[in-house]
Amino acid sequence: MSVVPSPKLGQFLEQQRARVDRTLEKLLPGAEVVPNSIHRAMRYAVFAGGKRIRPVLCLEAGRLFRDNDGPLLPPASALELIHTYSLIHDDLPALDNDELRRGKPSCHVAFGEATAILAGDGLLTLAFQVLAESPDIPPERCLRVNRELARAIGTLGGMIGGQVADLEAEAKPPDARTLEYIHASKTGALFRASVRTGAILAGAGEGDLKKVSVYGEKVGLAFQIVDDLLDVVGSREELGKAPGKDAEHEKATYPALYGVEKSRAMTAQMVEEACGALAPFGEKAANLKEIARYLLKRTS
Ligand code: IPE
Ligand code: IPE
Ligand code: MG
Ligand code: MG
Ligand code: MG
Repeated sequence: MSVVPSPKLGQFLEQQRARVDRTLEKLLPGAEVVPNSIHRAMRYAVFAGGKRIRPVLCLEAGRLFRDNDGPLLPPASALELIHTYSLIHDDLPALDNDELRRGKPSCHVAFGEATAILAGDGLLTLAFQVLAESPDIPPERCLRVNRELARAIGTLGGMIGGQVADLEAEAKPPDARTLEYIHASKTGALFRASVRTGAILAGAGEGDLKKVSVYGEKVGLAFQIVDDLLDVVGSREELGKAPGKDAEHEKATYPALYGVEKSRAMTAQMVEEACGALAPFGEKAANLKEIARYLLKRTS
């Protein structure tokens, strides 16, 4: 993420990203493992770059409730496997038809459509395997997270539901309710599930889970609006993906409905509400609040 986070936050995010990457390295089959075409494609998409925001938020939410976040690394990394699967499929010609992702040719451009589709399937499947096999975590917590995550990325208000609505909203006049549904579902639900995953696995009680969930859904919605804004004002170099595609596809976006300035103001308000929900955690939540505010200013 360029545009300078404070040195302390920048260093922290970089450290966390590196921990997640080391975990992903262990979880993914090697590029030489048979059938190697798919393992190459899976690794290509995962290690092309990426901010690793969902795992970082998961770990940080977990640290509200236990100091040692080591056991959370595999499940947190599973969130990145799911996210990367969603990007591979999102870029396919039948969906957004994007040829650049994380600064490299999209998975289907590099490996062909069939392999890219299967690489997405492979990452999704591996994610649930990792969650089910996570050592050092009570099995009933793993089961709950499994169930919640499946819902968060499913068709009922989850990521796939949002992706369907996103495609079906193309070239239609956007309305506020549909737009919020699309963004909250396609992106917000996985953010919410990411912080809940960390919190549940770390043993949070129901009251605290509610607070963390408010943070996750508001930050997730704001994150997708910022993504829309960057499609309008961002650069190919910094984004590692082609800007201007939303207008080209006549996507339902916040800037299209509300304009750039109002959209920005809405994200700022959402992030402040998100941070407000964490007030009862005091200093322990300082990183989560700082990350949320920084995500508003990101340029990549
Ligand atoms: C891009 O997500 C797609 C959205 C859901 C907005 P990110 O901005 O987290 O992409 P990477 O992982 O850093 O590439
Ligand atoms: C992507 O939204 C949401 C998911 C992948 C679930 P976008 O289509 O706006 O993401 P980008 O801009 O291609 O990264
Ligand atoms: Mg899309
Ligand atoms: Mg897209
Ligand atoms: Mg976008």
